[in-house]
Amino acid sequence: MALLFFSKIDLDMQRPKVSAAMRERLLRAARKVMKNAYAPFSKFRVGAAILTSKGQVFVGCNVENSSYGMTNCAERTAIFSAVAKLGPELEISAVAVTNDHGVPCSPCGACRQVIYEFGPRAVIFYQGEKGPKQSLITDLLPEGFRLK
Ligand code: THU
Repeated sequence: MALLFFSKIDLDMQRPKVSAAMRERLLRAARKVMKNAYAPFSKFRVGAAILTSKGQVFVGCNVENSSYGMTNCAERTAIFSAVAKLGPELEISAVAVTNDHGVPCSPCGACRQVIYEFGPRAVIFYQGEKGPKQSLITDLLPEGFRLK
């Protein structure tokens, strides 16, 4: 029993605290940037907002391509834009994802790996099968790949 109790405290200590107000701010920012999506092929606009460990917010939308595989998801657009602005020390605390169809949409596998690179403890806000949901990146991507 005691062991269970302490391991829960350990987990809580590792979890970045993101307030409800900040969650709403991220979701609003993600919704706003959806209008900039370039999605003529799927007609599925996605917005993402990331929160850095220093409290800055960066946004991104999906950018598709005639050569479909070149498409960049909203989450990666936001992260790459943050790296371009801040440099390689980026630390992600949270990511919010929205779509203009109001359907369930969690980050794709490629984006999970990219989020994990910069935010191994990040919390992700998205639309789940049963409504708004939040998950740790490590629950969405168990055993993510790391070189360092
Ligand atoms: N997409 C994202 O931008 N993020 C996600 O989390 C899921 C999918 C985009 C990629 C593509 O432009 C469109 O949604 C349909 O797959």
